Amino acid sequence: MATYEEYIQQNEDRDGVRCTWNVWPSSRIEATRLVVPLGCLYQPIKERPDLPPIQYDPVLCTRNNCRAILNPMCQVDYKAKLWVCNFCFQRNPFPPQYAAISEQHQPAELMPGFSTIEYTITRAQCMPPIYLLVVDTCMDDDELGALKDSLQMSLSLMPPNALIGLITFGKMVQVHELGTEGCSKSYVFRGTKDLTAKQIQDMLGIGKVGAAPAPQQQQMRPGQQQQQMVPAANRFLQPLSKCDMSLTDLIGELQKDPWPVPQGKRSLRSTGAAMSIAVGLLECTYANTGARIMMFLGGPCSQGPGQVVNDDLKQPIRSHHDIHKDNAKYMKKGIKHYEGLAMRAASNSHCVDIYSCALDQTGLMEMKQCCNSTGGHMVMGDSFNSSLFKQTFQRVFAKDPKGDLKMAFNATLEVKCSRELKIQGGIGSCVSLNNKSSLVSDTEIGMGNTVQWKMCTLNPSTTIALFFEVVNQHAAPIPQGGRGCIQFITQYQHANGQRKIRVTTIARNWADATANLHHISAGFDQEAAAVLMSRMVVYRAESDDGPDVLRWVDRMLIRLCQKFGEYNRDDPNSFRLSENFSLYPQFMYHLRRSQFLQVFNNSPDETSYYRHMLMREDLTQSLIMIQPILYSYSFNGPPEPVLLDTSSIQPDRILLMDTFFQILIFHGETIAQWRNLKYQDMPEYENFRQLLQAPVDDAQEILQTRFPMPRYIDTEQGGSQARFLLSKVNPSQTHNNMYAYGGGMPGTMTSVDGGAPVLTDDVSLQVFMDHLKKLAVSSTA
Ligand SMILES: *[C@@H]1O[C@H](CO)[C@@H](O)[C@H](O)[C@H]1NC(C)=O
Ligand SMILES: *[C@@H]1O[C@H](CO)[C@@H](O)[C@H](O)[C@H]1NC(C)=O
Ligand SMILES: *[C@@H]1O[C@H](CO)[C@@H](O)[C@H](O)[C@H]1NC(C)=O
Ligand SMILES: *[C@@H]1O[C@H](CO)[C@@H](O)[C@H](O)[C@H]1NC(C)=O
Ligand SMILES: *[C@@H]1O[C@H](CO)[C@@H](O)[C@H](O)[C@H]1NC(C)=O
Ligand SMILES: [Zn+2]
Repeated sequence: MATYEEYIQQNEDRDGVRCTWNVWPSSRIEATRLVVPLGCLYQPIKERPDLPPIQYDPVLCTRNNCRAILNPMCQVDYKAKLWVCNFCFQRNPFPPQYAAISEQHQPAELMPGFSTIEYTITRAQCMPPIYLLVVDTCMDDDELGALKDSLQMSLSLMPPNALIGLITFGKMVQVHELGTEGCSKSYVFRGTKDLTAKQIQDMLGIGKVGAAPAPQQQQMRPGQQQQQMVPAANRFLQPLSKCDMSLTDLIGELQKDPWPVPQGKRSLRSTGAAMSIAVGLLECTYANTGARIMMFLGGPCSQGPGQVVNDDLKQPIRSHHDIHKDNAKYMKKGIKHYEGLAMRAASNSHCVDIYSCALDQTGLMEMKQCCNSTGGHMVMGDSFNSSLFKQTFQRVFAKDPKGDLKMAFNATLEVKCSRELKIQGGIGSCVSLNNKSSLVSDTEIGMGNTVQWKMCTLNPSTTIALFFEVVNQHAAPIPQGGRGCIQFITQYQHANGQRKIRVTTIARNWADATANLHHISAGFDQEAAAVLMSRMVVYRAESDDGPDVLRWVDRMLIRLCQKFGEYNRDDPNSFRLSENFSLYPQFMYHLRRSQFLQVFNNSPDETSYYRHMLMREDLTQSLIMIQPILYSYSFNGPPEPVLLDTSSIQPDRILLMDTFFQILIFHGETIAQWRNLKYQDMPEYENFRQLLQAPVDDAQEILQTRFPMPRYIDTEQGGSQARFLLSKVNPSQTHNNMYAYGGGMPGTMTSVDGGAPVLTDDVSLQVFMDHLKKLAVSSTA
């Protein structure tokens, strides 16, 4: 058998799944004692160019409350033409078109390699993508100019059949009619008033288009061209191929908001009203149809619904301290406005992207639910004229080798599982579809009480975390050789307009944890566990950003060490963790210190942005966010990964740090001196030039592929930007001999816990580990 590492990698490549545990405990009580829940990360539309094209519908189990899809784990009786459902054990006849199957002649969905497979539903109507641009014009000419360039460029990246619309706003909100003749008519709305979808519909004089014409019912024959059904367009959302030229002109002519802004004042910016009109416009024209609102913001909403600050520049926008002190006047009302819009957009399958480019905050914190619930992008930069924004925005329209955008719409994910399991919930950029069934667990993790979630948009890296409860009772053993199964069914609209169903079915062995704990611990995936726990922690932190969240992280870590460590009671020096668990405490150490949980060094907008990314990215990217990667470049050999530790900072080294959000190159003291003396320009120091160039080239590789494009920082020993590196490395060389034992681990934020002083200072990994060992082996902890 392959090693677990290989097994885990194969499963991730094939199915887009990483499970915390790869051997499952066979009883409820044992499962709860594993501390880390049984769960998995799933990428519903992970790129799989090798999947066979399948143009028929999936075969469903005939049992009414099951409806699982035929898959390679089903037992098949080829003689009797029957298959046994691996979820409910129902014996199902094959449909007539499967009459010719035999062991030698299997349909793809029964082949062992196709535990993930994708069906194209040819009878569903083909939908064009819909893009509604919502553009802030309260910007200086340079910013607006750069944004206009990017918007015009994006038109050339959208498919010609895309429906497109334009709303601009400043003090007023303008909905533009997109004529083909170049006449530009627009409807003007006041930015201070919130309107219902009905009012918007009346004011714009549009009837309800609804979910467009009824889908074609007749069955398509293979080879027959799928008919392109374009929903009845309206004057505000036109096929790009028809309005391309006039829209390019219209964007080119956009001017800075004409309302004068007195000295000491902010622009009056009606973001909340503009978003409401955008949501309302799509709601009354393309309900329950995939669409994208793309919002471009150059500053905070300063009037009307969704206001986050007033127009007096002397009044700064709220900070974490203001929120902490309940001193953020507009926050609650603002959040309520945007949450309402988020729910409406999500229930209509419309996603909201926010591109926020400004030096100060724009209110992402209040608006975040719009992206979180709909799967939309949240991008944060300083300027529309930065490569961070330009490149990132261009990558939204990245294409696969077939030339289709890597952008799917209107997806629902449904999960089914064996009767020994129940579904506790999901955490990701989606909303619950509130579809309860007997598979739903009473204990909720994340968004629970449902077996279905909606994702208004998703791309290949979109990842959802799902949690399962083992419900099997200890007294009811699972028959030898039995396996637990989970099936993920994702229906979505592919970028080419086709409706597809991706089905992934996984199975794992059961083990009796009382007798065979080592079987279960051998299958522990500590990377998956770190990412799942991080999502759980951030999910908690979103509702309670206090010290209790850190305490919970500590408690879970201590319990895991107590369960899986080897030690003699009350002897910390005897404590050992097996290889499978050895990295996990470090991940938790870095998570505790990360910007996800230590919020006070960042603005509320930054916190929202960082957390948003952690809740949607795949495992590899998430791990980089939790524990950044550090490489060292020196004359002593090829570049090598080094410990994220102050000891890695050396005068004769260059460091490259990847935190996902930033790519930082740090020049050690000597290197920096040489660089300042321009040795790299002297022919005799060619090797120095090469040394300087190597991390730059490696950084470029990351900068060219990552979404969103990271911030690029070039700094040196003593440089002001070196703080970004120093805040991430383990402070191994500072003094932390002044900690004391509190209720949790050192580093918690409160001052007093049960009378014992608790450190507010940052502790090193060594101190953290020592402390962890003490608590894990303690007979009283
Ligand atoms: C955008 O930035 C580039 C340099 O990065 C500069 O040359 C250009 O003038 C800027 N454009 C605007 C419109 O500010
Ligand atoms: C969007 O998805 C829902 C749920 O799967 C489906 O009923 C609806 O027909 C889809 N809309 C379009 C326009 O395909
Ligand atoms: C709930 O999910 C089941 C499939 O498990 C589906 O048949 C049913 O239509 C869904 N109900 C609703 C209200 O969407
Ligand atoms: C866990 O450790 C065992 C023994 O060292 C090893 O065989 C197994 O592959 C490891 N499992 C994982 C998931 O790395
Ligand atoms: C996303 O939305 C869910 C459901 O409303 C919420 O519980 C969660 O905290 C949100 N996550 C973030 C990162 O805002
Ligand atoms: Zn079944």
